[in-house]
Amino acid sequence: MTEPNDLSAFWMPFTDNRGFKANPRMLVAAKDMHYTSASGQQVLDATGGLWCVNAGHSRPRIVEAIRAIVGQLDYAPTFQLGHPLAFEAASQLALLMPQGLDRIFFANSGSEAVDSALKIALAYQRARGQGSRTRLIGRERGYHGVGFGGISVGGIVGNRRQFGTLLTGVDHMRHTHDLARNAFARGMPQHGAELADDLERIVALHGADTIAAVIVEPVAGSTGVLIPPVGYLQRLREICDRHDILLIFDEVITAFGRVGRATAAERFGVTPDIITLAKGLTNAAVPMGAVAVRREVHDTIVGNAAPGIELFHGYTYSAHPLAATAAIATMEVYREEGLFEHAIELEDYWADAVHSLKGVRHVIDCRNIGLIGGIELEPRPGAPTKRAMEVFHRAFDDGLLVRVTGDIIALSPPLILEKSHIDEIFGKLANLLPTID
Ligand SMILES: Cc1ncc(COP(=O)(O)O)c(C=O)c1O
Repeated sequence: MTEPNDLSAFWMPFTDNRGFKANPRMLVAAKDMHYTSASGQQVLDATGGLWCVNAGHSRPRIVEAIRAIVGQLDYAPTFQLGHPLAFEAASQLALLMPQGLDRIFFANSGSEAVDSALKIALAYQRARGQGSRTRLIGRERGYHGVGFGGISVGGIVGNRRQFGTLLTGVDHMRHTHDLARNAFARGMPQHGAELADDLERIVALHGADTIAAVIVEPVAGSTGVLIPPVGYLQRLREICDRHDILLIFDEVITAFGRVGRATAAERFGVTPDIITLAKGLTNAAVPMGAVAVRREVHDTIVGNAAPGIELFHGYTYSAHPLAATAAIATMEVYREEGLFEHAIELEDYWADAVHSLKGVRHVIDCRNIGLIGGIELEPRPGAPTKRAMEVFHRAFDDGLLVRVTGDIIALSPPLILEKSHIDEIFGKLANLLPTID
């Protein structure tokens, strides 16, 4: 029997359930830059929740918009029906995307956005008479959520090995992480543009006419903040163009100001054919994912279809009214408060703070771009990930929420942060790290 407040029923995602339930750390409230823990402690959020609360927590404008709509239109289907907020959210979002990516498909999470994007890529190739292009290419150390499509193109063994054979016809390029050449690079690392040529190897192996799309995170987050080397994304774009392969950027964490612009595509000056989005789209107040699609890709699928439904794909909650409202309000907050510009203004100060940890005990690399920081620690001999996990727990107890992945501390604070918060984050880490074995 489950008792009230019994912790056993909730099977927690991506969690050491036994460890957590033996020593739970609960969050009960959130406002602006802080969580409040169950013990009443204020915890500075250096991770924007899970890279998703870009505008800060519980922002009144977003909260009020959601409250208002739930009493007016709690739910409306978007299969063969519509509601105005869905169209407005799509139009507003299209304005933030690189030019030409102005057709928007809605989902409910990053994982669903990724699977939708992969399906759109396959449907496009078929619609334009290139139905032999069925292969999907990802990259080692890529994270694209947890759907079967996402884990198939993803490159994290731990997320794949429990789940059988996954999608067929998937291959992976090499990742770009190279501590030997790029350790402590500030911003984009200088070395590694040539790693994009690994796509040529895959094309040579399988034939371009079997490849539908390539998907990469412009900045890989979940595998520890891997910043693209100078010229790498441009080269990937060129190779895709040469072989007529669609390029998908998974911008679930990089969009909405994280790198100081609406998208990493804009920041890095490389325009993909499809962008996947989620997280900061609604400031995480209501789950939502989206796929921004180049108009020609959309028009090919829709225009070439027989009369009737053009794409046999969608979710009960695609463009849910609460999510659509939250997205519109969130985009207003970004615009009116100039949060993307604020991120750019703070980028140098942030970079200095990230790199101030060079020389601190255990630190073997510091990486930064926009308001993203990665601090790589030397793994404890024979016990990889344990040192970083201890940092996570000890920092939390000290009033600081960081995220750890492997032995890397990943930082992605809400974009409303000020210099004093940056000082606090890195001051606490500089004090904490030397005390950890
Ligand atoms: C790049 C990327 N893609 C997809 C996802 C999956 O998003 P969700 O957890 O909303 O399904 C994430 C989540 O962290 C992500 O970082």
